[in-house]
Amino acid sequence: MTTPLCTSLGTEVPIWNAGMGGGLAGPELAAAVCGAGGLGVLGMGGLPTPAIRESIRQLRALTDRPFAVNLIVPLMDEEAVSCCLEERVPVLVLFWGDPSPYVEEAHRVGTRVLVQCGSVAEARRAAAAGVDAVMVQGVEAGGHVRGTTALSVLLPATVEAVAPLPVVAAGGIATGQQVAAALDLGAQAVSLGTRFLCSQESRAAQEYKDRVVAATAEDTFSTRMFDVGWPDAPHRVLRNGAVRDWEAAGSLPIGSRAGEGDVVGKMPVAGQTVELPRYGIFMPMEGFEGDLDHAVLYCGQSCSLIDDIRPAADIVRDLARTADSVLAGRS
Ligand SMILES: Cc1cc2nc3c(=O)[nH]c(=O)nc-3n(C[C@H](O)[C@H](O)[C@H](O)COP(=O)(O)O)c2cc1C
Repeated sequence: MTTPLCTSLGTEVPIWNAGMGGGLAGPELAAAVCGAGGLGVLGMGGLPTPAIRESIRQLRALTDRPFAVNLIVPLMDEEAVSCCLEERVPVLVLFWGDPSPYVEEAHRVGTRVLVQCGSVAEARRAAAAGVDAVMVQGVEAGGHVRGTTALSVLLPATVEAVAPLPVVAAGGIATGQQVAAALDLGAQAVSLGTRFLCSQESRAAQEYKDRVVAATAEDTFSTRMFDVGWPDAPHRVLRNGAVRDWEAAGSLPIGSRAGEGDVVGKMPVAGQTVELPRYGIFMPMEGFEGDLDHAVLYCGQSCSLIDDIRPAADIVRDLARTADSVLAGRS
């Protein structure tokens, strides 16, 4: 089930974990995905540069396979990109911004650049900026969501618009049948967030993983309410106490919401104890202590299709095996 993008990146299967920020997709998850033949992606959005460098080095100690680092443009500084290039990361996946300032410099050191896009227009601009591939994100996706279009529409439209540039599909994918469908629609790889959030290696807090497994798509919704640290950026989350309280109080705008300035919990991030403010963007991860019902719980509609927490390598292999047999059966 390889694609030309697999061949050019050196992966065996076209399956990537999404770079879930704050280190939720850390070296252990990325290494497990790489080990199973996929592309492991470090979610480094929101982390300081020394922590990014350390994670890259930890990952390199766990695998000698190609991998990627994900950064979020509005949350990063030049130093974070320089660190990735100094460390010669094979692939840089950017999100929520213009990749053009980084493409030339990255190519000089042999780093491929992708950007996750939410519309055909954004993908066209990325292609014109010289990226090596575009990732398209359907509105079904968990976490911050860039666009408003379903993946089943956005993917084929983008494949046609940017051909022959490879396109990676993200949003709502959690099964091998869906991997096969995305490849059928022209994707050369798939990127899964919510499915890998529910892997043993992801650094999400156990109760957060359990809630995602128990949830269905109807329990998720798109909002801008968790905005402390990254304002005015829509995100898909699980409906929890934070959301219910906010709605019950009349969905008041920023500045007039109940409990603004409160702390809902704390957890270790990059060797420091970090406090999570109410309405903040950091999700509860390993070592979280506090009120998880009032923290942000990013989650995609694909939670309807996820009913277990498994080793990431098993997830990659199962997805690949099922997709392979679907595609083989059809031919
Ligand atoms: C918990 C979580 C955190 C995420 N963090 C990031 C991030 O830091 N950078 C990024 O590019 N995308 C991030 N995303 C979005 C993913 O890249 C991807 O678009 C999404 O997970 C795809 O939909 P799915 O969750 O249904 O697989 C995140 C998604 C989730 C679920």
